Amino acid sequence: MLCIIYRLEDKVALITGAASGIGEEAVRLFTENGALVVVADVQDELGHQVVASIGSDKATYHHCDVRDEKQVEETVKFTLEKHGRLDIMFSNAGIIGPLTGILDLDIEGLDNTMATNVRGVASTIKHAARAMVAKEIRGSIICTTSVAACLGGTGPHAYTASKHALVGLVRSACRELGHHGIRVNCVSPFGVATPLSCKAYNLEPSEVEANSCVLANLKGIVLKARHIAEAALFLASDESAYISGHNLVVDGGFTVVNQSFSA
Ligand SMILES: NC(=O)c1ccc[n+]([C@@H]2O[C@H](COP(=O)([O-])OP(=O)(O)OC[C@H]3O[C@@H](n4cnc5c(N)ncnc54)[C@H](O)[C@@H]3O)[C@@H](O)[C@H]2O)c1
Repeated sequence: MLCIIYRLEDKVALITGAASGIGEEAVRLFTENGALVVVADVQDELGHQVVASIGSDKATYHHCDVRDEKQVEETVKFTLEKHGRLDIMFSNAGIIGPLTGILDLDIEGLDNTMATNVRGVASTIKHAARAMVAKEIRGSIICTTSVAACLGGTGPHAYTASKHALVGLVRSACRELGHHGIRVNCVSPFGVATPLSCKAYNLEPSEVEANSCVLANLKGIVLKARHIAEAALFLASDESAYISGHNLVVDGGFTVVNQSFSA
């Protein structure tokens, strides 16, 4: 007899940046694993398409610009009204920001990057945690950082600063929320072909993947958005019940070896 295990059965998840790339893949994987998911993004048409392709019984779209705390608060409220609870917050929305060098740094672009990648995520942690604490839910909060949170020189300056800050925020929030049984973790991808990476460098997905494969430590495998979603699923599920404050780097060892040393 075939026994299907749903790793997120009866769980409600809110995912930001869910209309595209890693977030979209997470919506698919989380719903396949039994979760009810609220898809939050600023790309309304794409968000509705994601929901239509999965089924409105499993996923619902809600517009949310994470830079605006009111919209974040309202999206959490929508999730509670729709499903009565919130178990998983996957705070994944992010932008790459300005690509300019430090000598020409676009300061307004840096502000916008911080507003999305740090302030936006902080709002999601705040309002998701409030909802979890109010209902005494031992929830899981997962934030998408990057290998650029571990190493300089792997992304643009504002992006690197924002992702480093995000790891600090996760560690800090993990302390306070641990008292409520709420876990807070990061997932840090290496280069994945998504609209973010393709548009930033004006490359086709196959070109982004080829570049990543050349730079990668782990050979013979192409990193896909699905691999990142799998890591997020682990952190969302009860399989990671005692893991909090962790930065789960999905990079095939890229950030822990010296690539220039051959032995
Ligand atoms: N693709 C990579 O190589 C890579 C590597 C490391 C980390 N990341 C991180 O992964 C996360 C997802 O990125 P992706 O690669 O899937 O890119 P993506 O562009 O496909 O997806 C990002 C989504 O976030 C949404 N978004 C942007 N600003 C928003 C805002 N203010 N409010 C709400 N939604 C907003 C976009 O509309 C988009 O749907 C980001 O945090 C990114 O920094 C990506």
